[in-house]
Amino acid sequence: MKTQKVTIHTLRQMKERGDKIAMLTAYDATFARLLDEAGADVLLVGDSLGMVVQGHDTTLPVTLEEVAYHCRAVARGARRAHVVGDMPFMTYQSSIETGMTNAGMLMKQGACHSVKLEGGAVHAELVHRLVGAGIPVMGHIGLTPQSFHQFGGFKVQGREAGGRERLLADARTLEEAGAYAIVLEAIPADIAREITAALSVPTIGIGAGTGCDGQVLVSYDMLGMDESFKPRFVRRYETLGARIQDAVKHYVADVRAGAFPSDAESFSVAENKATPSKIEPALYSTPGKK
Ligand code: KIV
Repeated sequence: MKTQKVTIHTLRQMKERGDKIAMLTAYDATFARLLDEAGADVLLVGDSLGMVVQGHDTTLPVTLEEVAYHCRAVARGARRAHVVGDMPFMTYQSSIETGMTNAGMLMKQGACHSVKLEGGAVHAELVHRLVGAGIPVMGHIGLTPQSFHQFGGFKVQGREAGGRERLLADARTLEEAGAYAIVLEAIPADIAREITAALSVPTIGIGAGTGCDGQVLVSYDMLGMDESFKPRFVRRYETLGARIQDAVKHYVADVRAGAFPSDAESFSVAENKATPSKIEPALYSTPGKK
């Protein structure tokens, strides 16, 4: 049966029906396939890859080419989910033309279905132009990690005087400019709820409480890849970091003891002679291809 793909219109209908949207980050084809098959609606190739894949302290060093590379892999692994490519730091902030060119590059070379960019009203004109050019845009307000140095760290946003009004105005302006959804990151829950009620496009929360239309988490965080990283807004559904290490310790012990490989995991000339065909059979089919 043909898979029904999630589009920006599906996401809008989900908000209208009150169905919550489940979004996760993905950076490669294997994870994309696993998350997609498990029901994630949206896969974000986030610039968080700079931190969880590349080992940087912030997202700032990530390049457009790197996001495009990871997007291509994720797009190959996803069957149903909507794939979003994140616009990295300074690939859209300097001018509308730069943003248009780079978003176009990400769509063409990354094979993603839409782009995400950080910031509010200041990017309304760019969002309007991108949507006019046929590029769907997901907004992102609140704690926008590309402004790490401006904020003085990863900090909850919107608690200051006028913060609520500013966030609400940013969200409204992005919607008017044509954004199809808006990520609300690290803002008080009641502000996120108010924004969600005010918009007809879905809000996707991360550290923004229970009132959003959907939720997003960095997949490495919710899978517990790094024991030392556990901010309040992350729920850990696994402790994969520890489980991977257990598996690797087991493998290392087997190799050292000569217990891997076994005869059953080896090849012999004799078994080939027993094969009627002269053509060597394939060892395995391509993983993930059905
Ligand atoms: O880069 C990223 O992963 C993100 C999400 C945390 C929303 O922007």
